[in-house]
Amino acid sequence: MITSSQLTGLRTSLPLVAERADAIAVDFYARLFGERPDLLRDQFNRGDQAQGRQQRELALTMLALARDVVGTQVGVGRSVARGREASASTAVAPWSSPAAASWEVRAAARETTSRLAQRHAAIGVGPDEYDLFARHLSAAFAAALGPAWTDEVADGWRALYEQTRDELVSSVAAVYRRADLEPGDDWREALVTERRVEAEDVVALTLVSADSEALPAYRAGQFASIQVTLADGARQIRQYSLRGGADEQWRVSARVLTGVPELGLPPGEVSNHLLAHVQVGDVVSVSPPIGSLTVDELDDAPLVLVSAGIGCTPVLGMLDHLARVDPDREVTVLHFERTPERHAHRAELEALVAALPRGRLRVSYTQGSLSALSAASTVGVAGAGAIGPPDVDASLDGAGAYLDPIDLGTVDLTPQHRVFLCGPVPFMAIVRAALIEHGVPAERVHHFVFGPDDGSVTRTDTGQRRRSALDEA
Ligand SMILES: Cc1cc2nc3c(=O)[nH]c(=O)nc-3n(C[C@H](O)[C@H](O)[C@H](O)COP(=O)(O)OP(=O)(O)OC[C@H]3O[C@@H](n4cnc5c(N)ncnc54)[C@H](O)[C@@H]3O)c2cc1C
Ligand code: HEM
Repeated sequence: MITSSQLTGLRTSLPLVAERADAIAVDFYARLFGERPDLLRDQFNRGDQAQGRQQRELALTMLALARDVVGTQVGVGRSVARGREASASTAVAPWSSPAAASWEVRAAARETTSRLAQRHAAIGVGPDEYDLFARHLSAAFAAALGPAWTDEVADGWRALYEQTRDELVSSVAAVYRRADLEPGDDWREALVTERRVEAEDVVALTLVSADSEALPAYRAGQFASIQVTLADGARQIRQYSLRGGADEQWRVSARVLTGVPELGLPPGEVSNHLLAHVQVGDVVSVSPPIGSLTVDELDDAPLVLVSAGIGCTPVLGMLDHLARVDPDREVTVLHFERTPERHAHRAELEALVAALPRGRLRVSYTQGSLSALSAASTVGVAGAGAIGPPDVDASLDGAGAYLDPIDLGTVDLTPQHRVFLCGPVPFMAIVRAALIEHGVPAERVHHFVFGPDDGSVTRTDTGQRRRSALDEA
């Protein structure tokens, strides 16, 4: 429990920390990797670090957690989601209704902790590294705040850190318990038994255990981390959604990120490695299945599954589950792809929907990039109606990109429907807003983010979001 003097330390320093949060996060990671270069090489995503995504995410998370504690305990504050949406320097705002605020704050705080716990569980972050983190965070705060880093302020931030650490450690342990695993049972070796290049640039792998004990069973919607050794010896980790296959097999598909030279973005490290170097008979390391957004634990409401690009993978996993376990479920699948040539797993998608008597499939080929749809529509994210004809001049592909979007007005949607979204973040933000306008309650619209989640799916983009890897989907 945070004491009132610690709370005072947090509250009085929050505006200055908010102003300097980005610098604190950048300095923190520099100090951390200065002492432990192996963490950058073997645990953190080097591309996300190089682009400053993880630094930004840490800065926003620290502020959001502090605002929640200050807000919950003194009756003012912003929810985690709102705090994450706000710019790092946004001041703490008063709540109109403390009771509602405190409920929303707690719900949002739970969501943040659960998301971070899943991220950490997927990497195998154990309790041992927290002291190292605390030391470098404290040094980075002290350097940024100078004389304002008083004993009272330091004590407040230390208490917040320890509270977050305890919540994360117990949530990670809970993730492992749910998977029937002990902490430390994290990485396994998996053998590649099939490999196929799908569509233009998707590499599909089938994995089985490389030893006598089968890979753990997974639930539809879950993902696992795959760790590979790159040419320079780094052991980089990425997550991939798990989907159907015979028992004891995992199937994953990775879209190869070719890079965007005009934006200075190099090719994705792991996806290109999977394409160029991973063959049948090779072994990769895999984490346990992770992820609490699974279709089997929810009600039996009619479903709408909306995907774009490689966002098809969790949808295929859910359809495979429904075809085996709940084939009578009413399911509408909407899939967006740039061109038919890029449409990976189309035959699998069609076969799975055909196996559901009440399944419907609609595919839209946008012809331009999916980012075009996203870019064109960010203007109207907050109030987007149906996914209507976009302003093509705003398209990342330039004027003339042709889009053929599915009009949600023609899709059967009721407040009872449950929707799962997966695709580029701006795409999901637009579709989510449109679904809500069409009467689907916000809490029944779920989404999978294929990378650091900066909260912009559920809120209007503040312009802080940088181009995400999956915008290339
Ligand atoms: C829960 C979850 C499920 C997922 N499921 C899937 C899935 O089923 N299929 C799928 O394809 N993906 C999935 N992903 C995404 C996947 O984990 C990877 O992010 C994706 O494959 C890209 O990895 P990469 O190593 O190829 O690219 P990265 O190397 O991570 O590159 C990402 C971005 O960073 C840039 N970059 C890389 N190196 C540098 C550098 N040195 N300097 C500056 N910029 C750099 C790249 O240009 C790119 O824009 C999922 C992610 C999550 C979190
Ligand atoms: C209270 C302490 C901590 C906080 C608040 C925290 C916060 C975060 C945040 C905000 C992210 C980005 C989330 C995302 O990518 O969606 C992250 C990712 C990560 N964290 Fe932590 N973290 C903490 C402790 C630790 C510790 C002790 C380690 C041990 C090394 C660690 C390792 C990682 C790794 C490896 C990732 C990146 C995953 C990736 O690159 O894909 N974290 N953490």
